[in-house]
Amino acid sequence: MTPDPVVLDRLGKTFGTFTAVANLSLHVSAGEIYGLLGPNGAGKTTALRALAGLLTPSAGQVRIAGIDVAAEPDRAKAQLGFLTGSTGLYARLTAREVLIFFARLYGLSQTQTATRIAELAGLLEIHGLLDRRCEGLSTGEKQRVSVARALVHDPLVLILDEPTNGLDVVASRFLRALLRAERTRGKAIIFSTHYLAEAELLCDRIGLLYRGRLLREGTPLALRDEHRTASLEEAFLHLVAAEEVSVPAESPRL
Ligand SMILES: Nc1ncnc2c1ncn2[C@@H]1O[C@H](COP(=O)(O)OP(=O)(O)OP(=O)(O)O)[C@@H](O)[C@H]1O
Ligand SMILES: [Mg+2]
Repeated sequence: MTPDPVVLDRLGKTFGTFTAVANLSLHVSAGEIYGLLGPNGAGKTTALRALAGLLTPSAGQVRIAGIDVAAEPDRAKAQLGFLTGSTGLYARLTAREVLIFFARLYGLSQTQTATRIAELAGLLEIHGLLDRRCEGLSTGEKQRVSVARALVHDPLVLILDEPTNGLDVVASRFLRALLRAERTRGKAIIFSTHYLAEAELLCDRIGLLYRGRLLREGTPLALRDEHRTASLEEAFLHLVAAEEVSVPAESPRL
């Protein structure tokens, strides 16, 4: 049997005495979109960075396409694309130069690189941006180039940390369509977001992370039904409020 493309097995991460992620187990199947939600500081970025092999877990194991990320980081990384707000785009290079750089890094030939860049330019509508230096791009334009960068080697697994951050409504919708198309192509996609409506629209399953622990996991529908709420936002506010020792005066931001 083919292993799930994404497996987190009892992942733990501590920074000094602080536990950022504790005993986190989840999996994402091929052709599935998984949304990781949770308040600021819940541990989403930490978990995604561990998945992408950019951070060494304090406990547990991460497997990408069945490959133990700690044991074979390069092989695992070849199977994944990681998008994060802090991804550098090399200000002085053009978008095309950045894409060529990463394509080469992943071992694409010159011809494969040219074909892939043309494909991505069409998919992400970045034709007009390719020959501009990254430093001159707007936030949303940079984000689209960063998405292209993450997809350049057509990886099996997509790990996206707040992918629609900084995108306008049209660009967000466009990215959601792209992710759905990637899902149809059998990719396993895991992303974090603070936009619950977006998670509701896009995700097959959702995990709610709270203080480093997975509080709930399920389909958006099941999570809403559990709390008899009309929206996921209300369901999560209920869940998080129930976790607080005393209900905070202000609703926590998801
Ligand atoms: N390198 C680090 N050193 C110390 N503490 C860290 C480090 N990285 C993360 N943390 C802490 O771990 C916790 C989880 O951080 P993380 O960035 O994973 O949260 P998050 O869920 O992504 O939050 P946000 O929604 O704000 O992006 C936070 O309390 C953060 O301060
Ligand atoms: Mg984060």
